[in-house]
Amino acid sequence: MPKAVHFTKGSIIYFEGDKDDRIFILQEGLVILTSMDLASRTPVTENIHKGEFFGVKSALGHFPREETATVLSQATAIVLTISEFEQVLGGNRQLILKMLRVFSNQLRTIHKQIEQMLNTNKEPVNQESGLLSVAQTFFADNDFQPCCDICIKFLAKYPNSARKGEAAKLYTSAKARLDREAQNNQSKEPIFVDDGGVKPLEIFSLPSFSRFAKTFKHGSVIIAEFESGESFYLIQSGLVQLVKCVNGVKKNLDMLHPGEFFGEMAILDNTPRSATCIAYNNVTVLEFNKENFAQLITGNPQIALILLKLFCKRIYDQRRRFRILVMPDAQSRIADVFLMFNEMNGSSNYMERKRTFNITVQDIVNWTALPLEQVQDELNRMSEKGRIEMFTDRITVSNIADMERVVENSLQIS
Ligand code: CMP
Repeated sequence: MPKAVHFTKGSIIYFEGDKDDRIFILQEGLVILTSMDLASRTPVTENIHKGEFFGVKSALGHFPREETATVLSQATAIVLTISEFEQVLGGNRQLILKMLRVFSNQLRTIHKQIEQMLNTNKEPVNQESGLLSVAQTFFADNDFQPCCDICIKFLAKYPNSARKGEAAKLYTSAKARLDREAQNNQSKEPIFVDDGGVKPLEIFSLPSFSRFAKTFKHGSVIIAEFESGESFYLIQSGLVQLVKCVNGVKKNLDMLHPGEFFGEMAILDNTPRSATCIAYNNVTVLEFNKENFAQLITGNPQIALILLKLFCKRIYDQRRRFRILVMPDAQSRIADVFLMFNEMNGSSNYMERKRTFNITVQDIVNWTALPLEQVQDELNRMSEKGRIEMFTDRITVSNIADMERVVENSLQIS
């Protein structure tokens, strides 16, 4: 049973960094949330008014609170567990859609901040030139199947484009390279190791859903960044790789497993696709349209909750990435990558300070957005000082507290 809890003026409901699963609805009074703006490192505040939720993201995502909740005037809040929250959601179509929109918007805002930070070319990108630049980025990365698929999408969507010839030429080159790879038998389906992650909801195995099923061959593009979107997808089998192209460079956002959704953002806020989604191996998805989307999530609170949790995880991951990128120097960026992997692996043995992470130098390059040589130099320096040991498939950090010190010191200096 949800409980009403009273809080006196000036008391703290939770601190930034706390870990707990409570979700709150403010009934009376005023609560203020204070967090740190990652880019400017200045406090930002948000007032919570009567009837509003707070504490949702960190509770659903099981990660530390991102803000401190302070009571500004005598307050009463309903405190919910996650399952009570699920019940409240179940009956409220408007609330579900509102929350999904808010989360989708937050994710987009973080994407934009990351893009602005990484993009030296500040020219605004429109859908047409954005789509073509995504195809060019795949070509430059020798990823010819996605390049061909995106060129086809471009030519179908913009038959009268001034850049039609450029797209057609790109397609011809990519197709020739693809055919050559096929002759040399280089385009084998990658092996999929099922890690027993998220499982598809039972309901989607019902025969009535089979009419929504679609298959994609490995390497093919399901969604291209910058195109308009009318459908969203649930993975039935196989893996889907999410990629964002920033300034001509491919950035891997995530690898999605059976049971996970994608493509919901364009539907929620009527904006172009925020990332490219590629079938990593042979993939089967259920494809739903906008109307199905509203029916599915409001008719089935379990699905709404999965989506909300997915957003929480994605927002957290991207904020964490952003925190790495705003570190003032290369050494602290790299140290913060180790801290992030440490948080994700959640070691419970605090006495044991040595940590081994299954990451490569290239992973660190991806997370820090630093040039390979600079990352290598920094890692060599850390290795000479005995702070880390490098192997081809893993890196051992001798004392994780060293990395915390590096990050703290450089934040204080800057
Ligand atoms: P949409 O923008 O419609 O199309 C691309 C999809 O990729 C997007 O919806 C989300 O489903 C998914 N997506 C976008 N950003 C991320 C992210 N940072 N992490 C995981 N998935 C994402």
